[in-house]
Amino acid sequence: MTQDKSASERMEKIVSLCKRRGFIMQSSEIYGGLNGCWDYGPLGTELKRNLKDFWWRRMVRERDDIVGMDGSILMNRQVWVASGHEATFSDPMVDCRSCKSRLRADQLPEKDGKLHCPVCGSFDLTEARAFNLMFKTYVGATEDESAITYLRPETAQAIFVQFKNVLEVSRKKVPFGIAQIGKAFRNEINPRNFTFRSREFEQMELEYFCRPEDGVDLLEYWLKERLKFYEDVGISSDLLHVHKIPPEERAHYSQGTYDIEFHFPFGVQELEGVAYRTDYDLSQHQKASGKSLEYFDEETGQHFVPHVVEPSAGVDRTVLALICAAFCEETITDQKGKAETRTVLKFHPRMAPIKCGIFPLLKNNERLVGPAREIVESLRPHMMVFYDESGAIGRRYRRQDEVGTPFGVTVDFDTIGENGPSNQGTVTIRERDSMKQVRVPIGELKSFLVDRIN
Ligand code: GAP
Repeated sequence: MTQDKSASERMEKIVSLCKRRGFIMQSSEIYGGLNGCWDYGPLGTELKRNLKDFWWRRMVRERDDIVGMDGSILMNRQVWVASGHEATFSDPMVDCRSCKSRLRADQLPEKDGKLHCPVCGSFDLTEARAFNLMFKTYVGATEDESAITYLRPETAQAIFVQFKNVLEVSRKKVPFGIAQIGKAFRNEINPRNFTFRSREFEQMELEYFCRPEDGVDLLEYWLKERLKFYEDVGISSDLLHVHKIPPEERAHYSQGTYDIEFHFPFGVQELEGVAYRTDYDLSQHQKASGKSLEYFDEETGQHFVPHVVEPSAGVDRTVLALICAAFCEETITDQKGKAETRTVLKFHPRMAPIKCGIFPLLKNNERLVGPAREIVESLRPHMMVFYDESGAIGRRYRRQDEVGTPFGVTVDFDTIGENGPSNQGTVTIRERDSMKQVRVPIGELKSFLVDRIN
């Protein structure tokens, strides 16, 4: 089997698992879907929430120099004029004259040195033209030019235009940052690779404001911080790649940009950009609005427009990376010596949607079911748990392995003292990856699990 074939099979298995177990589904599926839009089911929603909560904890709650905000999706059109999005936020597009497909001009395959349509193979393509990626809409009851605005294509601009207000209310001094998580929308010409390139997605962005002379060092600092973050959510460094964007490919205002990339089954692709954007954004808004966005430095008595370092990550891309990194198929041998394939999502416990499965050994025995249900109620305020009493215990473990639940607690006859007093009041905890089991007193269960999931 070629590398490409096994990678695409792996991706197919991941997509199918996501649908089958309720991580990610096609949006509006019963009407044929909507290209580039996805819904997260119960487990996908938990996974996404765990990721966003951990980002917020690392970037805002655990630091003294960063505060949060939550801006509106619709903003005054002038924001997008000043930021440059209205004039230049576009991708080059061509049409195939044969099959009428709309295609990204910079992603066309080549045959005999000539670009061709990846759908029908025709070389009969139109000239490339710029296609603006912003979704246009009208605010209010009249659909005329004065009512036009756009769904935001990034969360960053809300931070720039509120910079002065947030600075005043938070009473921070540079360097300090404003963080935001929220939806962004881009009318991508060619949404693809499952959720990787979507038309509606979420971003986790930080704008870190600093003195001009500190920008270059802070770019390196934030690159390291962000790489550490990925390790802390269970994406090991050997699945990541840092791409330093050469000067000729950077935005004209940037003095340095890194892309943090991940080895997806469909190729090495960007997860996050870490960019030193100088004072470009604040200066643009200052010029266009006529309002000062300068900072007064009490130490030096100087007024200046702060420079900005921006780590900007995609929530959906990181969720997909977490699933791809965790997906694993192992051959194991059962008690009768029969080989079988075990599918496991080896999530870091802090990312796992369900932290602990709780199982009475037998479903029809109230002496086992009662304590198991009590354990569920005692753990529920502290973590996401799942109670399952149906089927053989091995099958119940497998079902939890497949959705990445790191721990399984079983209430058995030892727990209720039927095999003597030595293990009475204890349960087994099975660890997902090693499949090893330990016995723990019920009273220590909560702290055992809490220590491992945070
Ligand atoms: N404020 C800077 C900014 O928006 P970007 O590189 O265009 O920079 C940042 O986007 C991140 O947002 C990307 O690294 C990616 O993770 C995510 N992203 C961008 N477009 C996306 C799309 N169409 N689908 C899913 N995620 C996307």
